Amino acid sequence: MQRDPRFDILFEPVRIGPVVAKNRFFQVPHCNGMGHAMPQAHAAMREVKAEGGWAVICTEECEIHPSGDVSPYVEARLWDDHDIPALRLMCERVHAHGALAGIELTHNGPTASNLYSREVLLAPSHQPSKYGYPAQARAMDKRDIADYRRWHRNAALRARSAGFDLVYVYAGHDLSLAMHFLQKRRNQRSDEYGGSLENRVRLLREVIADTKDAVGDTCGVVVRFATEELLGDGGVTLSEAKEVVHMLADLPDLWDVNLAAWYNDSVPSRFAREGAQEPFIDWVKKVTSKPVVGVGRFTSPDTMVSQIRRGVLDMIGAARPSIADPYLPKKIEEGRLDDIRECIGCNICVAGDNTVTPIRCTQNPTMGEEWRKGWHPERMAPRKSGAKILIVGSGPTGLEAARALGQRGYEVHLAEGRPELGGRVSLESRLPGLAEWARVRDWRLGQIKTMPNVHVYRGSQLGAQEVLEFGANHVLLATGCHWRRDGFGRSNGLGIKGFGQAAIFTPDDIMNGAMPDGPVVVFDDDYFYYASTIADQLCKHQRAVYYVTPDDTIASWSSNTLDYRHIQARMHALGVEQIVASNIAEFKGDRVVLEHVWSGKVSELSCAAVVTITARLPQDALYQALLAMESAWPAAGIQSVRCAGDALAPGLIAHAVYAGHRYARELDEVPAGDVPFRRHLHTSFT
Ligand SMILES: Cc1cc2nc3c(=O)[nH]c(=O)nc-3n(C[C@H](O)[C@H](O)[C@H](O)COP(=O)(O)O)c2cc1C
Ligand code: SF4
Repeated sequence: MQRDPRFDILFEPVRIGPVVAKNRFFQVPHCNGMGHAMPQAHAAMREVKAEGGWAVICTEECEIHPSGDVSPYVEARLWDDHDIPALRLMCERVHAHGALAGIELTHNGPTASNLYSREVLLAPSHQPSKYGYPAQARAMDKRDIADYRRWHRNAALRARSAGFDLVYVYAGHDLSLAMHFLQKRRNQRSDEYGGSLENRVRLLREVIADTKDAVGDTCGVVVRFATEELLGDGGVTLSEAKEVVHMLADLPDLWDVNLAAWYNDSVPSRFAREGAQEPFIDWVKKVTSKPVVGVGRFTSPDTMVSQIRRGVLDMIGAARPSIADPYLPKKIEEGRLDDIRECIGCNICVAGDNTVTPIRCTQNPTMGEEWRKGWHPERMAPRKSGAKILIVGSGPTGLEAARALGQRGYEVHLAEGRPELGGRVSLESRLPGLAEWARVRDWRLGQIKTMPNVHVYRGSQLGAQEVLEFGANHVLLATGCHWRRDGFGRSNGLGIKGFGQAAIFTPDDIMNGAMPDGPVVVFDDDYFYYASTIADQLCKHQRAVYYVTPDDTIASWSSNTLDYRHIQARMHALGVEQIVASNIAEFKGDRVVLEHVWSGKVSELSCAAVVTITARLPQDALYQALLAMESAWPAAGIQSVRCAGDALAPGLIAHAVYAGHRYARELDEVPAGDVPFRRHLHTSFT
């Protein structure tokens, strides 16, 4: 297919100082939990994006010195020359596909931890470390400032030796000294680096000049700059940011501008739409003659074109869209818009970083598996047999298995008991704010529609006998799960007294349209997104809601996906009353008996109903029935029966998609063994 000429503008080259990007697609820095510890996995992940057409591929933030050690987070590292080979690997892989490699140098100052290095934290002025570590950062003296500039300069030189084409000076996300000196709340200095804006911007100006001086003849020097922190006067404000960009306008070779902190930048789709940062960055291009990159979870080529044509941006910055679809530019270039696997804005990718583990993506199950499993987001091994596959259940596991097996060329039959396809994705995407999650279903259905070898049956409830008679060689049960009604969960291993009553609802009931009388207690023993979305739905129907949880705060796991602050704000805006550190001892029909987790104090709360969100159970009755009939499989031509996804063990949608994908990858292949992936092994102990 040919590219639509209206997208030609996206494929124009852009000069960035001494180097030229081949098009306008710019993968902005993003961490991945692999960083300096897993260089081969890291390089392979970046390579796939270069192959997919991105003109610029950046690292994540890169530590320049042990006093800016961000352990336990695993980021890039350029402390000394020993760190060069790992990053050279990435540059070689990126260059092999005609892309530029960029590196984001940073010293995290009081937002580092130094848990590994045990160095004393550094900051513009004495202050506590940001992340609650019980240690303070000390105020930098002039010698420290000179050292910091030297470390940054040396790291830039090392970056050039590694092969990087773009070197960042990072002043974003409240995560780097160059930004900390700008912030009034972090900088109370009385010397020429504190006080007036001119003084507070001095260090940023100096580091840009140092970097240009060190590598500017061959590398583009990029500034990542936060234009607003949404914190009022103590933070970087839009009006100050405008002055800063005026002061430094043409000093860098490119401006990469966005919101700080991270939770205001990588906002989940539940709380921000595509292009939401525009009002905070649309003025930058008017101030500088240098190209401008911005972000906004851009997945629509039309939105991208509009950003360029309206003079908002010169290059389309993307982190999450490049994770969900490393081939996004190539698909636009080849006129394959329907093939674009759009990011759903769930931030499971972010949770990888926050849980100090390799990156995972809901939409793209191959993310993080490029090296260790050899999985490619676009390519799969062709089928190894003429086997016919029956998949029961069209949720994220079933749909992904059907799509991927279809791609391999198998004859696939996908049976769904309900009239609607998509399973939990269809249900959850109807909850307030989660509409984009339907992309998990829609992309897969769109792909399946083009595959004559994949057959889909709706409203088709199969029993074990019918499965046996179907004539399939392999059967995959992807029949999902349901929420428990008995209160069993983390806090109540024996269930909750009184939860057998009609006024006890589960998320399944609400998602299927039930609406309890109010006031309603939403009981959260799950700690992620469900309870707040259910509360939101109940509020939409004018129910008074109490959010009760045994945990010390609501939705605690959502801090890993950067939802937490937004959920708190939303619950407060809706008037949802939070009752934390409280378990439910009993439901008495018109009230719940609460027991305080720490004091043991008992109280009562009047309510008409409870929505209980505690644990789920696999719906595996068909699987169990088939296992019981194993002796009949050979006569029926069945070689294997497997159960996967929520039907095996309920989890995230990301787990479900991965399970379906893995099934499809592994069918008819030689089993990988007890450790089913490659590892970075330490083989030298000298
Ligand atoms: C998993 C993940 C890790 C990130 N790590 C970094 C980082 O190391 N440095 C940085 O400047 N921004 C980081 N970001 C922010 C992105 O660069 C980007 O500004 C933000 O995600 C908004 O762009 P998007 O909507 O295209 O995702 C990260 C984003 C994600 C999703
Ligand atoms: S994990 Fe979710 S937010 Fe992150 S890239 Fe994938 S789909 Fe987008």
